[in-house]
Amino acid sequence: MAARFITFEGGEGAGKSTQIRQLAARLRERDIPVIETREPGGTEAAEAIRSLLLSGSIKSLGPEAEALMFAAARVDHVDRLIRPALARGDWVLCDRFFDSTRVYQGEAGGVGPAMLDSLERIAVGRCRPDLTLVLDLPAEVGLGRVTSRLKESGDQPDRFEVEDVDLHERRRLAFISIAARAPERCVVVNADRPEAAVAEDVWRVVDLRFLQEAA
Ligand SMILES: Nc1ncnc2c1ncn2[C@@H]1O[C@H](COP(=O)(O)OP(=O)(O)OP(=O)(O)O)[C@@H](O)[C@H]1O
Ligand SMILES: [Mg+2]
Repeated sequence: MAARFITFEGGEGAGKSTQIRQLAARLRERDIPVIETREPGGTEAAEAIRSLLLSGSIKSLGPEAEALMFAAARVDHVDRLIRPALARGDWVLCDRFFDSTRVYQGEAGGVGPAMLDSLERIAVGRCRPDLTLVLDLPAEVGLGRVTSRLKESGDQPDRFEVEDVDLHERRRLAFISIAARAPERCVVVNADRPEAAVAEDVWRVVDLRFLQEAA
């Protein structure tokens, strides 16, 4: 069976990390080797860039420079972690990928499509996801979840979490419109439901696309 590259996208608190853990567990039960990773991040260099990006300390550079930083992190992540893993036969589940750049720096951030296209060519090349699950829910529901998580952990909100609900709602629409333009790659899942119900939908899509066809 071919290794698969699956990305999870969606706004803050949509349940990406939660659903990746659940899908990874279900795949491992079937003896499928899986790597869980995230963007920005996934390698030492990319995690270092992640802390710069999420701290907000370089927000003043503007969205284009931010997009460059995301792309730099992605180059390392794709070259050193994602492509080698797929080549070994490991499935890769990635928390955010280039659709997040399209949404955060592009459609809701002001960076033009020509620049995003070239960054994508450089950073991603042919390493495109086989499937992208877009977890969709109203922005205020996701932000509510993040707020309760922050209360429990005592952490401070990151650079993106502090932005206003309108902007988060614009990003939600941008994710939906990306999915509509790439229906062969993207599936939108209603994430405003209990964790287990979302996980069941995610599993159905993965099983139907990749496991039943291989059986
Ligand atoms: N379906 C769900 N219903 C209610 N709460 C959920 C659901 N899925 C996840 N949560 C909770 O909401 C919070 C956010 O979930 P999670 O961290 O998985 O989201 P995320 O999309 O990874 O968020 P972020 O963008 O901040 O990384 C967590 O505290 C998690 O336990
Ligand atoms: Mg997360």
